[in-house]
Amino acid sequence: MGRLDGKVAVITGGGQGIGRTTAVMFAWEGARVVVADMRLEMARQTAQEVEGRGGEALALQTDVTDGEDVRRMVAATLERFGQVDVLVNNAGVFSVYSTETCPEEEWDRIFRVNVKGVFLCSRAVMGPMRERKTGAIINLSSLAAKTGGLSASPPYSASKAAVACYTWSLAKELAPHVRVNAVAPGIIDTEMTQNHPAELVARTPLGRKGRPQEVASAILFLASDESSFITGEIMNINGGLFMD
Ligand SMILES: NC(=O)c1ccc[n+]([C@@H]2O[C@H](COP(=O)([O-])OP(=O)(O)OC[C@H]3O[C@@H](n4cnc5c(N)ncnc54)[C@H](O)[C@@H]3O)[C@@H](O)[C@H]2O)c1
Repeated sequence: MGRLDGKVAVITGGGQGIGRTTAVMFAWEGARVVVADMRLEMARQTAQEVEGRGGEALALQTDVTDGEDVRRMVAATLERFGQVDVLVNNAGVFSVYSTETCPEEEWDRIFRVNVKGVFLCSRAVMGPMRERKTGAIINLSSLAAKTGGLSASPPYSASKAAVACYTWSLAKELAPHVRVNAVAPGIIDTEMTQNHPAELVARTPLGRKGRPQEVASAILFLASDESSFITGEIMNINGGLFMD
């Protein structure tokens, strides 16, 4: 028996990295998955991987910053699968700018994807979830939200802190039937961290980057009924790099 049997999960940014691994793991645990990514070809590749392992997946081209796209994403999910039980707000973008060098447009871009995207997608699923009196939303915050960023990226860190705080607000707003939690990964081995300096990784007590599977496992726990009394939690997954 799978840990997500009977559930339908939407994973934004599911075309690669943590989102892709999460989609594949969810399907393995019995969920039917919607892989939404602004890059359709990548979403399709994830869906094919799921189907190749005997799962069910729907690939959608979705820009999480576009309210109409997000509305279509949820409508397509309901049309194909009839319900939505889990939303993983995974789509996110990183920025290398300092406050001094950050163009206004870059600040806006980071906040549009990382914060507004979470707002739009959460709002779009809350109606159907509340109607069925069940649901789990998992947001991707970051270690950066708690530390200001290891390699000092103010727009990124501030956006992920907004995600953490919004997780708490939403957890209160959607209780008692819908649970809302977040994960705060440290340095995970995906395209996003390819240029992170090696000395940051060396400072991690567990001595290496995390694997996407290690984040997906935590997301799986928060999506499943095993975490049925947990809401408003921001879970560290950082190899001990920051402890609170
Ligand atoms: N990798 C890390 O070390 C790390 C650490 C902390 C938090 N995170 C967070 O985890 C999440 C996933 O990170 P990752 O490393 O897998 O990233 P990644 O760059 O490998 O993948 C991100 C995915 O999001 C998609 N995406 C970007 N903008 C989008 C948009 N507007 N609409 C829809 N899809 C969009 C991309 O196409 C891509 O498939 C992000 O929110 C990231 O901030 C990652």
